[in-house]
Amino acid sequence: MNKITLPKVILTSVLSFYTLNASSGEELFNSKCAMCHVKTRPSDKSTLVAPPAMGVMHHIHMTYSNKKDAVAFMSKYILNPQQEKAVCMPKSIKHFGLMPSQKGNVTKKEAKIITEWMYEHIKPSKMMHNHGKKASPFLITKGLPHMTKLVKMNWDNPKLNLTQKQKDALVLVRKETMKGVKAVKPQAMQLEKEIKKMTLHGGDIEKINSLIDELSHLKAQASKIHVKCIQDTKAILSRQQLQLLMNK
Ligand code: HEC
Repeated sequence: MNKITLPKVILTSVLSFYTLNASSGEELFNSKCAMCHVKTRPSDKSTLVAPPAMGVMHHIHMTYSNKKDAVAFMSKYILNPQQEKAVCMPKSIKHFGLMPSQKGNVTKKEAKIITEWMYEHIKPSKMMHNHGKKASPFLITKGLPHMTKLVKMNWDNPKLNLTQKQKDALVLVRKETMKGVKAVKPQAMQLEKEIKKMTLHGGDIEKINSLIDELSHLKAQASKIHVKCIQDTKAILSRQQLQLLMNK
């Protein structure tokens, strides 16, 4: 080896060591974390088994103001997850369960490399915390148009061209509908919660069944209000206006 190639060899190996390290944060994340923490915004939250990486980083950034503290916390947490220390929302932890310790799967050094990479490369973003499907107060939940929403979205659409008289009438329908739904919704939601709880805790089946009857009655009431709203709205609009709305 001559005088020029030796430093060159050292330089290249030092360089490749760093580039290797730089990409290995991502590689390590992909192989050890990404199966639970998805890297992109999920379109279907129902299949998630853990908070998406961007959501985790949102909470990390809200709690730790610099990289050093954030990385120190995260590398420790993944080897020893503890509910009291968690930055994730209690609701998320209840929904997903506590993260299983990665001890044995990830070394201390790797934990640091991965979390440093996360801190640098995962853009924090707030996730909406609606775990599971939102309960609906209606008995019929699909296939009927959401008239007041459609109308609201096109309130000043020149193509729809609502007259002042129509607008006044639509406001009244909307008011009446909202009032009606508001009157049954909280009660229905509360009942539904109770039924779920009783079912999971071995509650008396007779009692649960009578609550289900009560719930279906409330939801039927809400659906009747919904159907009336659709018909009242249709009666106010012209055939062309309706066609325009429904084709949206
Ligand atoms: C088997 C699934 C699973 C794997 C694998 C996993 N996590 Fe998690 N992780 C979770 C769950 C569930 C939570 C939310 C509950 C919690 O915070 O403990 C979480 C939370 C976190 C949090 C937030 C902790 C807090 O304060 O709430 C961080 C940071 C994190 N994970 C990093 C990682 C890293 C880095 C890896 C890869 C080395 C990894 N996770 C692998 C399931 C997983």
